Amino acid sequence: MFNQSLTFANSMALQWPAIIQAPMAGGITTPALVAAVAENGGLGSFATGSLTSDALIKGIADIQSLTAKPFSANIFVPSSNKDYDSSAVEAYVKAINRFRRELGLEAIKVPESPQFFKDNFQEIIDILIDKNIKIVSFAFGIPSSDSIEKLKSKGTYLVGTANSVEEAKMLEESGFDAIVAQGYEAGGHRGGFLTSSAYSAMSMFTLLPQVVEAVKCPVIAAGGIMEGKGVIAALTLGASAVQLGTAFLAVKESGASKTYKEELEKAKTKDCDVTMVTRAYTGKLARGLRTKFAEQIEAEGIEIPHYPIAHYLSTDLRKQAAALGYRDVMAMWCGQGVQQIRSGLSASALLEEIRNEVKCILHELK
Ligand SMILES: Cc1cc2nc3c(=O)[nH]c(=O)nc-3n(C[C@H](O)[C@H](O)[C@H](O)COP(=O)(O)O)c2cc1C
Repeated sequence: MFNQSLTFANSMALQWPAIIQAPMAGGITTPALVAAVAENGGLGSFATGSLTSDALIKGIADIQSLTAKPFSANIFVPSSNKDYDSSAVEAYVKAINRFRRELGLEAIKVPESPQFFKDNFQEIIDILIDKNIKIVSFAFGIPSSDSIEKLKSKGTYLVGTANSVEEAKMLEESGFDAIVAQGYEAGGHRGGFLTSSAYSAMSMFTLLPQVVEAVKCPVIAAGGIMEGKGVIAALTLGASAVQLGTAFLAVKESGASKTYKEELEKAKTKDCDVTMVTRAYTGKLARGLRTKFAEQIEAEGIEIPHYPIAHYLSTDLRKQAAALGYRDVMAMWCGQGVQQIRSGLSASALLEEIRNEVKCILHELK
């Protein structure tokens, strides 16, 4: 029954079942976390989203100083800035300025054009090739065929992210080697790229078997997996591996701040879904803890500028909120599984607990 997952784990030299620690931008996937997962038979993923090229080079060097095992790097495919809507930008700037004042920051002016938005996508690809990173995953799109060719010519294993069957098929046709099927429960940004898919709200439980049916390449399940039962459920639905983000947020090596970890822990005492999916922070749908900031921006009903415009406009507000531990404004991405989060373990202890849970289930099934 689990043949495809055995093949995947063996081919990637990972312990079965293959557990991937999700890439998590914003400093969560520290070199210590990525290396600890790699050293303990899982696949650690280093998020390059929002990193400067120098920070990326340093991050890779730090991971490589801690482990000789392979790990993956994750890149955001840049969006075009073509749909710059100045009235949406004006309304958004006005809304975030209220929060900026609350946090002691000066108000910002409405930028005249989107020209200040630059990305270092090509540079990142060149660095990953130069540093011999053999597994590269992407979110938010399909890179150009030139970039795909460039990476594949160096033997890089390419992983794409899909929120729908349509996206999964497109990724496979573009030459991707494996696909993350990300359900609506998942923490962080929706990793797909078609507008129709972003709003499709399919849970991992419904999306995964359909993607498995539609493509020939290995499918990695992401969204809501917090324990051994979830791992077995995903493998039963045809996943070759599982990708866990929220489960790793509160481990010792995670770069989540003290306030962030405390808020995740507090979420366990609530009986309702403490998360929400919102475009308020970045202009792209993402799931995180409910905050005053997201709820107010959503309630105002203003048109939020598209990603990455809102992302850039709110960057220093989010940074200031994180520095002050101001939870009303902080972006605290996490999935609907947050109430099952285990705090304070090391990454290796978390992996061991999940693997033991898997073993117990298999034993019971015998
Ligand atoms: C804090 C946080 C940051 C994330 N950042 C990224 C990222 O940089 N790139 C990416 O492909 N996915 C990112 N994700 C999504 C994860 O890759 C994964 O799909 C998700 O965590 C799986 O759902 P789960 O959180 O319920 O385990 C992020 C998720 C979280 C919780």
